[in-house]
Amino acid sequence: MTKDSLTLDAPATDALQLGPRDGSNSRKVFIKTYGCQMNVYDSTRMSDALARDGYEPTEDMEEADLVLLNTCHIREKAAEKVYSALGRLRDMKKRKAADGREMMIGVTGCVAQAEGEEILRRAPAVDVVIGPQTYHRLPDALRRAKEGQRVVDTEYAIEDKFEHLPIAEKTKIRARGVTAFLTVQEGCDKFCTFCVVPYTRGSEVSRPVAQIVEEAEKLVDGGVREITLLGQNVNAWHGAGPTGQAWSLGNLLYRLAEIPGLARLRYTTSHPRDMDDRLIGAHRDLRTLMPYLHLPVQAGSDRILKAMNRRHTSAEYLALIEKIRVARPDIALSGDFIVGFPGETDQDFEDTLRLIEEVNYAQAFSFKYSTRPGTPGADLKDQVPEEVKTERLERLQALLLKQQHAFAETCVGKVVDILLEKPGRMPGQLIGRSPWLQSVNVDAKASQIGDIINVRITGTSTNSLFADLL
Ligand code: 5AD
Ligand code: SF4
Repeated sequence: MTKDSLTLDAPATDALQLGPRDGSNSRKVFIKTYGCQMNVYDSTRMSDALARDGYEPTEDMEEADLVLLNTCHIREKAAEKVYSALGRLRDMKKRKAADGREMMIGVTGCVAQAEGEEILRRAPAVDVVIGPQTYHRLPDALRRAKEGQRVVDTEYAIEDKFEHLPIAEKTKIRARGVTAFLTVQEGCDKFCTFCVVPYTRGSEVSRPVAQIVEEAEKLVDGGVREITLLGQNVNAWHGAGPTGQAWSLGNLLYRLAEIPGLARLRYTTSHPRDMDDRLIGAHRDLRTLMPYLHLPVQAGSDRILKAMNRRHTSAEYLALIEKIRVARPDIALSGDFIVGFPGETDQDFEDTLRLIEEVNYAQAFSFKYSTRPGTPGADLKDQVPEEVKTERLERLQALLLKQQHAFAETCVGKVVDILLEKPGRMPGQLIGRSPWLQSVNVDAKASQIGDIINVRITGTSTNSLFADLL
């Protein structure tokens, strides 16, 4: 139950695979991406920036001259995974050095931001540590590292990193596929008491409309059919419009829906407090906007919601869901849940289960509360014992899984549009995406990748659907 959300702590991609580039003597970079889609997006843009310096992407760490770990800090184990990966990289670096080959190691992302110098101390093989706000300075940091410096750059830069990070030219984008992420907003001012994001990604920054439209048009020119707008708090986006006044995300969606050739729009992750009427109106009016909404609530008990500083009650959340469903009756909802927040009683947990019953989710992501140093939650008394968290998580996930399967079953027999994305596991099969973000297996020709076709859903399996061409 952990995919396709700005919520992951599992490795998101093994290596960032881009199209081949010219130039035989170029250096090679291997990027390992952990965490959410924003890291996937950032890895792509770093790769583009490094390409200007002659770095070609590789999927084979063995041949890499530079290895970047783009890290996630949302939950505890993620950082430990990074340190053990760095241990293995140190051995590889030594081995390569013995063969007379240099390999540089860089750590980027939220662990880089949070740990900074500490990474250099714990992992002496690391050459550069770069936080998410300064990726445009990565090529320069690598130049300094080549001269023997160990570089840490985790400032919140005043300059706009997006203005300095290139977007790859058409052909490279085409090689990446028919769906793409586009970061429109970064950072968070909400300060939920469990969450490190306001500290690792900084305060909310919204990219201006013109920059976003330009990037979206480039992606579409390169063959992209579906764009997912990204932000830690994407619906708090308030970028400058053409005359300088701030737009809301709803307005941006109406504007992007006008781009010829752009067939599908999505956005993630949203906060209930920022679901305004214009955005709900976009769900009602825009066929391009897919009927799927990730709207985390975290807990169903008002006491816990308050302690989490979520700034809404469960009744307010339920009323919001109702309003959204009136606007777009076929919308599928997804959420994030935390069990075992400090002070959570059995009764509080029951309230969460009850809220889930009332909403009926198509998809969800759920986690045991994990203490993040520096967040207010870490100082709270009444930490919940591990075995209680485990037991609650199991019950919660069983309920969510039941709902997810029930939702998939309701799709059987329906005629739906799917966007054909990539080859399937069997020859002659492709994998497409339903409007509700489910993977759909269908017999189709490779030349149809990028097409949106009409299919009838015939069956379900654990994580995907089967369909027949109409
Ligand atoms: N412990 C457990 N889960 C967390 N999340 C964020 N911080 C924590 C934490 N300290 C979850 C929330 C959030 C998602 C991105 O990760 O559910 O929505
Ligand atoms: Fe973290 Fe809350 Fe901000 Fe989401 S809204 S990124 S959970 S602080």
